Amino acid sequence: MFEALPDKGVPGDQILGELRELRRADLPTHGGRLFAYVYDPALDGLDDLARAAHAISAHVNGLDPTAFPSLLAMENALVGAAVKLLRGGPEAVGSVTSGGTESLILAVKAARDSRPGLTTPRLVIPSTGHAAFAKAAHYLRVALDVVPVGDDLRADPAAMAAAITPDTVLVAASAPSYAHGVVDPIPEIAAAAAARGVRFHVDACFGGWVLPYLSRLGADLPEFDLAVPGVTSISVDLHKYAYAPKGVSLLLHRDETLRLPQYFAYADWPGYTMINPVISSTRSGGPIAAAVATLRTIGDAGYLELAERTRRAVAVLAEAVAATDGVRLFAPPETTVVCLTADDGGVDGGVDLFVLADELAARGWHTQPQMAFGALPATVHLTVTAAVSATVHEFAADLAGAVAAARARGPVRLPEPLIEAAGALTPEMVTPDLVAGLAEGLGLGGGDFTRMAAVNSLLNVTPPALREALLTGFLSLLQRPATATE
Ligand SMILES: Cc1ncc(COP(=O)(O)O)c(C=O)c1O
Repeated sequence: MFEALPDKGVPGDQILGELRELRRADLPTHGGRLFAYVYDPALDGLDDLARAAHAISAHVNGLDPTAFPSLLAMENALVGAAVKLLRGGPEAVGSVTSGGTESLILAVKAARDSRPGLTTPRLVIPSTGHAAFAKAAHYLRVALDVVPVGDDLRADPAAMAAAITPDTVLVAASAPSYAHGVVDPIPEIAAAAAARGVRFHVDACFGGWVLPYLSRLGADLPEFDLAVPGVTSISVDLHKYAYAPKGVSLLLHRDETLRLPQYFAYADWPGYTMINPVISSTRSGGPIAAAVATLRTIGDAGYLELAERTRRAVAVLAEAVAATDGVRLFAPPETTVVCLTADDGGVDGGVDLFVLADELAARGWHTQPQMAFGALPATVHLTVTAAVSATVHEFAADLAGAVAAARARGPVRLPEPLIEAAGALTPEMVTPDLVAGLAEGLGLGGGDFTRMAAVNSLLNVTPPALREALLTGFLSLLQRPATATE
């Protein structure tokens, strides 16, 4: 590994070569074969444009809009576009954040701080709500009430309503959920929250920029946006289906009064008065300028066309899954997610989903395994973007091949002593040494993460709290200062 701070500066060409070399180890961000982490519209010239726009504003600081009105203008333009797309009224306002997690944390903060008298403010979410809500609750010391979803994987409005207490500051639901890609019944939950006078946030971080276009194309989806009475805020990530480079999400509120407690202000020190609408104080204008450029070059008609391509790709993928013995669709492919599971619903016979994910990866298709959760079996998640439409016709054959290979390899059989040792572990027993030994034993020591079935199988039978402790330990193991020799 190169030194980030060499004794003497290094020429630019060499540095760019080193960075490109490093990137070769990454999953392919383009090419329509990566079904998580990245969103690719496969539009010629878009990357170059976004990069150029990013460069123009990279050093602009969002800390003070009076010093850098260009950033304020761009943010207001992005919020305006989202208010229009998500049907906010004339009173709607919004903020630009760095990502979905920040938008959700701020939605929870605004709700919590609108009720300062409560000892234990509470947040109600369905069990399919994004993990970022748990993070928000944790950071903000808000109690989390998790309501089981129905058999259709959607939030149950009656159960959500029943979970609302006088201390509930916010109810939230997804449009759609990340894990399964299904839209919660937003109007019903909104009505229940409104009847109790409680704020209701729609997490449309994932799908907020594509659902309106899918609806326009004829998809039968429930209403989910600010036009629904009772929805008080909504989040949508531009770095997902708006196809902007990473680092931009929007949090919209029905009106300014609802947004006000989101702000943080502090004048009680000798320096400048700090007024922050979002979590970061100093913020780069780069991602915001890149997002503006992306929206303007694609345009409304362009997003409709990209949604159409995505919709066709989802249909082809879903057909391939339905036609392949050994796997089946786990959730209806009604938005942009294809979620599949093993026909027999588990890893104890037939197709081991974690082996299947490895086999798909060996064929160049990078999917995202999801662990069993409560009564739900393990699944494989595919986030589908417009780029997939170019490659999707090769999927069915590779899926069939991967299933056959997974059957031939058989399910992962973890060594008995390992299962026993894991069974006896509690989160408190997880130490850095233990994690290092486990990582070594599972073949992760060398940094090769291509065959993950054994690791995933172990994690799949590990209770969530232990899984959290093990993966925290593993990440901490990876995050070590590098020296020139490594
Ligand atoms: C529904 C939903 N909400 C929130 C998030 C968090 O977004 P981010 O990773 O940008 O913080 C995601 C990310 O996938 C998501 O799918």
